[in-house]
Amino acid sequence: MKCEFIEKSLDIYGKESYNYINCTKLNFALSKEEFFMSKKLVSYFSASGVTADAAAKIAEAAGAELYEICPAVPYTTADLNWQDPNSRSSLEMKDKSSRPAIADNPVDISQYDVIFLGFPVWWYTAPTIVNTFLEKYDFSGKTVILFATSGSSGFENSLADLEKSVSSSTVMKEGIVIHGKQDSGAWKKWVDSLGV
Ligand SMILES: Cc1cc2nc3c(=O)[nH]c(=O)nc-3n(C[C@H](O)[C@H](O)[C@H](O)COP(=O)(O)O)c2cc1C
Repeated sequence: MKCEFIEKSLDIYGKESYNYINCTKLNFALSKEEFFMSKKLVSYFSASGVTADAAAKIAEAAGAELYEICPAVPYTTADLNWQDPNSRSSLEMKDKSSRPAIADNPVDISQYDVIFLGFPVWWYTAPTIVNTFLEKYDFSGKTVILFATSGSSGFENSLADLEKSVSSSTVMKEGIVIHGKQDSGAWKKWVDSLGV
């Protein structure tokens, strides 16, 4: 079921602006009560801070712990230049088997039931470092809720590409894609709508 939130906020000049957030209402095996009782983690990769902002607000709204997927080698501005076919991000995204290394900051996935997983949309899918994360830990039997930020795209190929990195017992769902930063209230509204 598709839903659309329209949030009103003030931009940096104090002018009112409207943010449209398209999302899919999720239909989990978990009841709403089970969802809110479960131990939750918000994990995310963010190259320039937009997804990090979203992740912190989701974690606050969901009462979840926060985990950043840090690349072993941070992305420079030049690495992120999608107009350069030879930039690091272009080369990684052209090679579906690329698995950029994650910095050594381990997380114990076994203690969580629900894992939010956030990332910026790159070339109409998730950055391949998100596959590295999924393949590094055991997500069997877990519920993984995707969220993403983008310039204008939706999830596009993200779910199909990420599902290849988990076992068939992982329940992975598209959550929400947003464009730019949203205020905490918008995130709270989304988190509150989960599990209905
Ligand atoms: C290499 C690269 C590829 C991108 N590809 C897309 C895309 O396919 N569609 C889109 O709408 N935005 C695309 N973007 C824009 C990012 O998704 C957007 O700026 C995102 O909010 C950045 O999040 P971050 O600050 O957490 O890294 C791309 C950005 C980069 C750096």
